[in-house]
Amino acid sequence: MKQVYLNGEFLPPDQARVSVFDRGFVFGDGVYEVLPAFGGRLFRLPHHLARLAASLAAIRLPNPHTAAEWNAIFTRLMAEHGAQDQSIYLQVTRGPAPRDHAFPAQVTPTVFAYAQLLKYPPAEQLTQGVAAITTEDIRWRRCDIKAIALLANAMLRQEAIEQGAVEAILVREGVVTEGAASNIFIVTHNRLITAPKGPFILPGITRDLVVEIANANNITCDERPISLETFKSADEVWLTSSTKEILPITRIDGRLVGNGKPGPMHARMFALYKEYKQAFIAGQAH
Ligand code: PDD
Repeated sequence: MKQVYLNGEFLPPDQARVSVFDRGFVFGDGVYEVLPAFGGRLFRLPHHLARLAASLAAIRLPNPHTAAEWNAIFTRLMAEHGAQDQSIYLQVTRGPAPRDHAFPAQVTPTVFAYAQLLKYPPAEQLTQGVAAITTEDIRWRRCDIKAIALLANAMLRQEAIEQGAVEAILVREGVVTEGAASNIFIVTHNRLITAPKGPFILPGITRDLVVEIANANNITCDERPISLETFKSADEVWLTSSTKEILPITRIDGRLVGNGKPGPMHARMFALYKEYKQAFIAGQAH
């Protein structure tokens, strides 16, 4: 990576400096986004900017940039990697201030962004599926805010890794919410089910696209709470995220999902998703 964006400047990463009193560093007081770019085009940019605006509004931090300004920053960062598939990370924190939990009266937000090549999941994860664990959702009650304070998510993901799995599927009071860094879909009786939006999940951009694709192709998709019981009897389980796309989960807590192979509904949805992505790269989809 040759450059990052920090507070109006494009700098080599080792020259970018942030105050040790930044509230992002001291309190985890900030929000972030991760957006993919395919074929040199920012995928679902308006959706990501709308979610960023919602996160900023939720923590009462003014949006430091217009959509056109964000676009210009991302476009310049992406230029380094040309048309290769990449992801943009951006974060906005409440900036430096003397340590006090209450918000400072004067705020100079810290705005940081960079682009890196997208690391797709290894091919065998798509063909074989991945392992996951279920564990208690120990997070707070504002999981709809894309907050940089990710200690609980990091602990939960680590728990999965230490058990030889790639993701932790989170359960709150007997209901499956989402993954540590992904949304969850199940297939049961040829219907898709995913958790409804609300304070207990991040409204994933990939999740919304899967729902949209399902609706456009006569695939029934319910947005409703998934009880652990329903979850355990699912024919297929998938995770979705901007960087992992739609990944089948074939082992949960050491047990096989269905016959232990990615299912036919995943094959269908992934083909539709790839079609949509190709149309987007060709400028035929938003
Ligand atoms: N995480 N839920 C959580 C808790 C997430 O952190 C993410 C994404 C998602 C999926 O959202 P989307 O489809 O918009 O990527 C759901 C990103 C990729 C990350 O933290 O790196």
